[in-house]
Amino acid sequence: ICAHFQPKWLAGRKVVLTAGPTFEAIDPVRGITNSSSGKMGFALARACAHAGAQVVLVSGPVGLPTPFGVERIDVASALQMRDAVMGRLAGADVFIGVAAVADYRPEASAEHKIKKSGEAMTLTLVPNPDILAEVAALPEPPFCVGFAAESRQLDAYAEGKRRNKAVPMIVGNLVQDGLGQDDNLVVIYDDDGKHPLPRGGKMGLAQRIVEHLSGRLGRHPA
Ligand code: CTP
Ligand code: CA
Repeated sequence: ICAHFQPKWLAGRKVVLTAGPTFEAIDPVRGITNSSSGKMGFALARACAHAGAQVVLVSGPVGLPTPFGVERIDVASALQMRDAVMGRLAGADVFIGVAAVADYRPEASAEHKIKKSGEAMTLTLVPNPDILAEVAALPEPPFCVGFAAESRQLDAYAEGKRRNKAVPMIVGNLVQDGLGQDDNLVVIYDDDGKHPLPRGGKMGLAQRIVEHLSGRLGRHPA
């Protein structure tokens, strides 16, 4: 990516993104998380900054460097991620939910390390808030973009998420299309239907997604 020849599709815009997994504590030394690398969210944050946006990136635990020009807020749990997002939305034109937010968290996190007993143990999980759906349901929401990684029926599930969360744009992919590869195959779903992007790396895809997004915002590059 060459910043000098990058059209400033998002000049004057503020973009808030989530990225990475969340970590839901069970006790002080254990928790529930997932294998999201955060790479797609970080690539998108970088692409938004290159496109001239003011970018706030709310990130779960990942081992990635902060993209140049991006304001980063590190969080662990979904509840912390939601609070960080809600606290940063003022003046935001766009919200992009890339994080693999844990759908559930332990009902309570033990104050001290849980000791084994030799018996079976049950962990009660309660649902986490849906950050993307909550942002989209605000009285004057920013333009919301969601991600959907599915293992089958991509069109149906991605469109279902777009409708159920009331977001105008979903970026979908079949997990098996990207597994073990640097390249990924994604499809954008919006009010005009489906738009498959050419297979590419995460940075190239991020630029394409930003370009598509800026078209939906109704703004030509400066
Ligand atoms: N998302 C979110 N908060 C959650 C769960 C998901 O903001 N608690 C966002 C993700 O960042 C992504 C989109 O919603 O942009 C879709 O996430 P996904 O896990 O694919 O969908 P879910 O609605 O959680 O449905 P399911 O996991 O059952 O497929
Ligand atoms: Ca989920």
